[in-house]
Amino acid sequence: MHSHSTTHEAALLGLGAMGTALARAAASKGRRVTVWNRTPARATPLAAAGVTLAPSAAAAVAASPLVIVCVTDYAATRSLLETVSLVGKTLVQLSTGTPHEARELAAWATARGAQYLDGAILAVPSQIGGPHANILTSGAPRAFAAAEGVLADVAAVRFAGEPPGAAAAFDLGVLGSLFGALLGFYHGARLMESEQLPVDALGELMVAVVPALAEMVRADAEAIHHDRYEVPEASLDICWRSMELLARQAREAAIDSSFPAFAAGAFHRGMAAGLGHEAPAAMIKVLRAASAEGGAR
Ligand SMILES: NC(=O)c1ccc[n+]([C@@H]2O[C@H](COP(=O)([O-])OP(=O)(O)OC[C@H]3O[C@@H](n4cnc5c(N)ncnc54)[C@H](OP(=O)(O)O)[C@@H]3O)[C@@H](O)[C@H]2O)c1
Repeated sequence: MHSHSTTHEAALLGLGAMGTALARAAASKGRRVTVWNRTPARATPLAAAGVTLAPSAAAAVAASPLVIVCVTDYAATRSLLETVSLVGKTLVQLSTGTPHEARELAAWATARGAQYLDGAILAVPSQIGGPHANILTSGAPRAFAAAEGVLADVAAVRFAGEPPGAAAAFDLGVLGSLFGALLGFYHGARLMESEQLPVDALGELMVAVVPALAEMVRADAEAIHHDRYEVPEASLDICWRSMELLARQAREAAIDSSFPAFAAGAFHRGMAAGLGHEAPAAMIKVLRAASAEGGAR
């Protein structure tokens, strides 16, 4: 990943867990970083890391052509920039939100004279600056060109295209996958406990099988993209039976059964729709039909 940025400075607004990690990582790469946080006490420790503390959001924005915001949500971003001039600035919003919110903020920032880049951080703060941190961006190509260098100092940066909502859409797609998987893992942890087996060993086993799971996700994504579910390696019927086994084990062990009940119920809808002989990705047909019934697409 190389830099196209001519901007050496960066203003960073928001010093929660993530903003602090971003500021430290950028400063450690030699960037001149000016920071501001609503609660000033959170900014103070950063002075020792060579970061300049600004007394107000307006002062931080004035300090750099590149303004990066990482606060709780889009409403907070808007409220802290409401009275600040953004003319000629490149605004990079790294707070998590929906595609709709990203589009709204892009229009708002552009109307106020800024170039807008939306971004989503696919990492936890301790990963920032390391090899597993990714930032996904979308929006104005000129804004990406201006911000890429600084962002590349803290994570691997990807550009998902000009629609400002794209980064948020990919981000929520990842988050849905992540938390779906984590809920399944938490149930797996209870299953381990019910069998007096060590949960950390299940964690280690997951690390070993994650590459195989990633290949399955890629194959399912291809199947859905091309709408082809024939000749499965494992049929939806086989997957449903596994979910039924999870539900049965939960009953036998008298542990919480909400996750297996949800998963078995979902796959059962695929079975009832006659998709048992197809690939599990055929579940998308059930979800599409439900969207159509609800009036959304
Ligand atoms: N933590 C993660 O693992 C992670 C991963 C990916 C993405 N993100 C995203 O990064 C963003 C920040 O997360 P975080 O973990 O840093 O959260 P956090 O530790 O809770 O910090 C929240 C930050 O937002 C500021 N803030 C909230 N409302 C504000 C307002 N109305 N005006 C001005 N500042 C306001 C807070 O200021 P005060 O200090 O004054 O309260 C603080 O700096 C979120 O959108 C989150 O989804 C986080």
